[in-house]
This record gives sequence, structure tokens and C-alpha cells, in this order.
Amino acid sequence: MVEKTILRVLAGEAVWPPPVWIMRQAGRYLPEYLATRAKAGAFTTLCYTPDLAAEVTLQPIRRFGFDGAILFSDILILPDALGAEFRLDAGEGPRLRPTTSKADLARLAPDLPLDRLAPVLEALRRIRAELPLGTTLLGFCGAPWTVAAYMVAGRGTPDQAPALAAARRDPAFMQALVDLLVESSITYLVAQIEAGAETVQIFESHAGALPPDLLEPLSLEPIGRIVAGVRALRADAKVIVFPRGQGKRLTDYAALGAAGIGIDQDTALPAALRQLPGNLASQGNLDPAILLRGGDALDEAVDRVLDTVRDRPHIFNLGHGIIKDTPIENVSRMLARVRAS
Ligand code: CP3
Repeated sequence: MVEKTILRVLAGEAVWPPPVWIMRQAGRYLPEYLATRAKAGAFTTLCYTPDLAAEVTLQPIRRFGFDGAILFSDILILPDALGAEFRLDAGEGPRLRPTTSKADLARLAPDLPLDRLAPVLEALRRIRAELPLGTTLLGFCGAPWTVAAYMVAGRGTPDQAPALAAARRDPAFMQALVDLLVESSITYLVAQIEAGAETVQIFESHAGALPPDLLEPLSLEPIGRIVAGVRALRADAKVIVFPRGQGKRLTDYAALGAAGIGIDQDTALPAALRQLPGNLASQGNLDPAILLRGGDALDEAVDRVLDTVRDRPHIFNLGHGIIKDTPIENVSRMLARVRAS
């Protein structure tokens, strides 16, 4: 049996040194990514062309030898498959056709059309076939609230105000949108696992925008339904939940049946870990900004995380995606320091 370190950690084992991958590890800080991206033209072409998606997924594995490879795609590919028309034009953030009412919802597919995602699933099969034996393949989706925030606004917004306003104005619409995303995400994650993903991460990147009274109905309950729905079809599925901006509520997210919990850089790691079950895998927390600086400051920040997670199951990662101006040598320095620990 091949010993994949990330899978061992997700099974509750304290592996040392801890395995490492980083969020957005295939991305704009890598010259080889920029070259493939330029060749592809549109970002969505990269996502929907199996050879290109597999190529950019594998680039950071070849360069750094991370322990995890995350499928190159985007959380907005799922709403695109539903009919929301995702695009990413040069110099602009993501755009979708806004979905703000039940009438807009009726223009989307009522069930996820998996055939539209066939190229993504094919990319997973190719990546899995090419990965080094010890490297774990991660699939992912966005959590319903985070995806809904983009779908309602039709773009990224600083505080998710359009989606919050929709939730107050028309709770039945918001619930219907969340329900569609819950069912679609279960279908999508199970398909990813069948195509070769060995664990799946749910990105709740905008959890921090939710006020306390909306956290349960719009974030905790839908994510809990996804985890339960995936595990009803794949009993051995390992799910990582990343509730960015809700570091004070990690125990609530941990109770949803996740095997791992992602921790952002604004959360105090020692206090957070004291609240989590000792056999639940933790992941993340290193400030992406420290990777811009490098040097002693980086070494010290890496050591602080390592000292805190010694003796518990932990996956070394950042508290959010790597910043595009990050010098590559700082990534190598971080990795060398973790592996020498
Ligand atoms: O982590 C990985 O390497 C896997 C691929 C991945 C991407 N996006 C690639 C990408 C993953 C897992 C995501 C998730 C994602 N996408 C999230 C959740 C995580 C997070 O960052 O909070 C969110 C909120 C999105 C939506 C999205 N897609 C945004 C906000 C952007 C950036 C827009 C910008 O210009 O800054 C994207 C585009 C995107 N997704 C890029 C990459 C590498 C940049 C694309 C490019 O211009 O080449």
C-alpha cells in the first residue's frame, strides 16, 4: 500500500514532517503557468481543456514536489455548468450572469449537467495517472454561500453586500439557490472522487461576511448537507472544510463530519487547535503575506506553525491563496524548512 502522507493525516495520524501543499499553488506567481495561460487564451479554456488543466496542475508538483496536487479549475466552473456564464477577462475579476430572483434561477439547469463537466473529470483522470506515487490528488468546490455570493452579484464584491441583501429581501430565493448548489456540489464532488480525487476541499472563502444569524442557515447547514450527501454515496470520502473568516467557530464546522479543517491566517492557531478534536486534521494558517517577505521573518513564521502543530495531524498550507507577486525562492525556502523540521 502506498503511504500518502496527506491521506494519513486526514485519517488522524500525526505525520512528521507534516505534508505540504499551498492554495493557488498553480497560478500567476509561476512563469510556466503564465506561459500555458497565454497559450490557452481564456481562463475557462484552461479549465475545460483536459491536457492544459492537467499540465498546470502538475507544474507546481514538478517544480516543488508538494505532497498534494489540487485540480486546476475554479469554484465558479460549477455555476458555469449550471448556465451562469462564468468568464474572467484580462484586468477584471470573475464575472457571471447575475442570479437575483426565482425567475433567474429558473434559467439555470435544475440539476447539475455532469456532461458539461466531463473535461474537468477527464483532467482528474489524467492527473491521477501522472502523479508521483506519494502525492495526493485534491478535488474541490466552493461552499454554497461563497458561490452564491458571486452568482447574485455577478462578480466579486468587497463585503458580499448584494448576496446579504438578497438573503434579507427574499429568503426563499436564497434558500432555493443554496439548495441547488448543495445538490449540485454533492453530484460534482462524488464525480470528482470517482474520477480520481482522493480528498475534496470545500472553500467557504466568504464565511467571514456572514452575520451570526445567517451563519447556520447559509453556511453550516448547507456544508453539513454536502458532507453528509457525499459520504452517503462514498462512505470513505475525506472532506476538508475551509471556513475563511470564521476562526472563532471552527468547532461548529468541525462537527459537520469533515476529516480536515482549514484555518486562515487571522486565527490564533494555538487557541484554535485546543478546541478541535485531537484526531481531526488541521490545515493552513501561514500568512501568505510572509511569503512575499521571505528571509528570517518567513523562517520564524514557518517555525511558529510547526512548533504549534507538532504531535497533531496537520497539513502545512497557507491561510489563503498564494499572492501573485510571491518570489518563487521563498516558496522553496518554506518547503525546505518544513521538510527539515
Ligand atoms: O489552488 C489551486 O491552485 C487550484 C485552482 C483554484 C483556482 N481558484 C485557480 C484560479 C482554486 C481552488 C480556486 C478557488 C477559488 N476561486 C476561490 C476559493 C479560494 C479563495 O481564493 O478564496 C474563489 C473565491 C475563486 C473565485 C476566483 N477565481 C477569484 C476571486 C479569482 C481571481 C480574480 C483575480 O484576478 O484576482 C479567480 C481566478 C483564478 N482562479 C485564478 C487562478 C489561478 C487567476 C486566473 C488568471 O488570471 O490566470
